[in-house]
Amino acid sequence: MPKARPHPRQSHPRRNASIHSTGMYVPERVLTNAELEKLVDTTDEWIVSRTGIKERRIAAADEFTSDMGTKAALQAMAEGNVAPGEIDLIIVATCTPDTIFPSTACRIQEKIGAKRAAAFDIQAACSGFLYGLVVAEQFIASHMYETVLVIGAEKLSSIVNWKDRNTCVLFGDGAGAAIVRNRQGVHGLLASDMGADGAQTDILSLPAGGCRLPVGPAVLEQSLNCLQMSGREVYKYAVNAMNESAERCLKQAGVDPSEISLIIPHQANQRIIESVAQKMKTTLDRCYVNLHRYGNMSAACIPVALHEAAKEGRLKQGDIVLLVAFGGGLTWASAVLEW
Ligand code: ACO
Repeated sequence: MPKARPHPRQSHPRRNASIHSTGMYVPERVLTNAELEKLVDTTDEWIVSRTGIKERRIAAADEFTSDMGTKAALQAMAEGNVAPGEIDLIIVATCTPDTIFPSTACRIQEKIGAKRAAAFDIQAACSGFLYGLVVAEQFIASHMYETVLVIGAEKLSSIVNWKDRNTCVLFGDGAGAAIVRNRQGVHGLLASDMGADGAQTDILSLPAGGCRLPVGPAVLEQSLNCLQMSGREVYKYAVNAMNESAERCLKQAGVDPSEISLIIPHQANQRIIESVAQKMKTTLDRCYVNLHRYGNMSAACIPVALHEAAKEGRLKQGDIVLLVAFGGGLTWASAVLEW
């Protein structure tokens, strides 16, 4: 018979989790649409009209996902006045880890000197940062941890087929980070929604490199070591998945779309963002958009946009913010925050 004693965590009521501070990093190298015109059969006009993207950042050959994630993390720590020793957990969302293992989170733990922190990666493609934010919330709400560092970091240029005009114009490299804590007097994360449809693995994937298809000459010949995407299929699913997830999340939060101060959507395509704005019965100026400068940075999009929106004064204490993303898997996720 177990001892008749209360569970050690039973005395703790659930508590709120909030974003305490943010940081970001993008590589210096800017790759413009004009340069892509020289690489593949495309035009600036096609890329801008179909996606909204004008340029993207490309990491240096010796600059890896952990390097970019570290820079974003150090900025979030500096802005939040958080010392390395205060971090309990590091979660890195990425589909372009430095190595399959050890995790990129472990590499960043070493680089930022967060010796006490547990560390792991999560893989939900472009929805990864929001998945990470929700996981962080659970650790804070349950009182297991005080300070969680969530990073979205990607070196997508390393998995893009630079001969495929269907995909190479869409992606860029970068990293964003957020420190998640309980903050007195702020509700923080009000609600979240996560989902996946594993029946759609083939419409957006990196086929080779795992145990299913190790990289060899035949794989390289067919570029199966590069990202593959059925753009139109992804587009269709993305619009529905994002809109339905956002609606569920707002309902759970008890928030009417008219109360939203800012929507921070995944930055894949301007037309997808417009459709989210339409569904939320709002206009594009209430959506944060930076894809014209960075393209799709997968898991890094939302934390970078969050950081920039905060820096530009577009997020004020008490504002209601909707974050919404979709990505390979397929996966999707939303969060409603009181800033
Ligand atoms: N330049 C010029 N023409 C192009 C290019 C290009 N870069 N790329 C494709 N085309 C051509 C196609 O070959 C096609 O020609 P065809 O009609 O002769 O076959 C034509 O343009 C139209 O192609 P569509 O696929 O119909 O173009 P669409 O309007 O759907 O736009 C796009 C394509 C931009 C990829 C769009 O479908 C999209 O944004 N999809 C979602 C992609 C996305 O969000 N991915 C997220 C990935 S997230 C993650 O988890 C990594």
